[in-house]
Amino acid sequence: MIDYSKLAGQSISALTPYKPGKPVKELERELGVTNSVKLASNENPLGCSPKVIAALNEFMPEISRYPLGDAFYLRKAVSEHYGISGDRLLFGTGSNEIIELAIRTFLAEDECVLSPSPSFSVYGIISQAAGKSCKWVPVNDAFKCDFEALANAITDKTRMVFLANPNNPTGEYFTAEELEAFMQKVPEDVIVVMDEAYIEYADAPDFPDTLKMLDKYKNMFLMRTFSKAYGLAALRAGFVIACEEAIDMMNRVRQPFNTNMAAQVAAEAAIKDQTHLKAVLAENQRGKEFLYSEFEKLGLKYVPTQANFILVNVGNGEKVFDNLLKQGVIVRFFGSGLAEWIRVSIGTMEENAIFIEKLKEVL
Ligand SMILES: Cc1ncc(COP(=O)(O)O)c(C=O)c1O
Repeated sequence: MIDYSKLAGQSISALTPYKPGKPVKELERELGVTNSVKLASNENPLGCSPKVIAALNEFMPEISRYPLGDAFYLRKAVSEHYGISGDRLLFGTGSNEIIELAIRTFLAEDECVLSPSPSFSVYGIISQAAGKSCKWVPVNDAFKCDFEALANAITDKTRMVFLANPNNPTGEYFTAEELEAFMQKVPEDVIVVMDEAYIEYADAPDFPDTLKMLDKYKNMFLMRTFSKAYGLAALRAGFVIACEEAIDMMNRVRQPFNTNMAAQVAAEAAIKDQTHLKAVLAENQRGKEFLYSEFEKLGLKYVPTQANFILVNVGNGEKVFDNLLKQGVIVRFFGSGLAEWIRVSIGTMEENAIFIEKLKEVL
């Protein structure tokens, strides 16, 4: 008998795999319900731009060809959109792959990453899978990043800090001033990866304009995705903006055809349609205001969000999560540290109304 857990090694056999939100069809099959609503994975409820669909349809006859290894057209579109050189961009299969590439490229055997907690669990999973570790530094009672504790947690073994802004699962954010003060304390050879998966939704006036900080801080990476506001989660497209030297190193590690061609075609069309993006953001704002006001009427505490989801205190998170599930509404429950909370993605106005109706019943 082969003991595969032994072959994989201790850090992999001890891994708890990432648990994604249940797909709607699976839930409906399991519970025998119909018309269920998935507000669990922070997806874009309006979907992608119609121009993306048109571009994909046009591309379809070409799927027998390998993708462009350098993502030429997508690179051009993104570089024009942000006004940065294409040499400062690297694309990946979602920002998940960028996390992996960054860790694999820059972490030596005994080095570790650091992140506030709670945040995106994938930082820990990928670190552990790569035989490294992730040190989590708790946020404060108001779910704000504790930058002092974070700076103090940096040791000579810390190579990378992941900062999700806005943060997931809280929706909280930190300001330009806070980030600037933190960067001053971070040693030059510790890479700060800004995970900006939800940045398009952020509208706080003091939200950091990190693109402007890149020239000053060569150790800052910006990670972005097409999965959220651009509505391309299924296709897997993300990218990182960093200095050319860092991109050059990660390019050596990445697989030659890592970003599939459908994703490239779709992402290019998506970033070129800023009108659709505006509509998505407006719908999110409407949903956010509706949910805030309903939570207030119900006397539920929530964390004001800069993203497309809201963390809300429902008393017994697990029970409410389970009961909502039975009603065909899928939200997210995280357990430890967030036992009283559920996270709900902001849906269409219709989905939001169904969620509130079912929540009232469940409570
Ligand atoms: C904070 C954060 N970063 C990154 C991602 C990953 O996104 P992608 O679909 O680009 O891999 C997510 C997805 O949920 C996220 O919440």
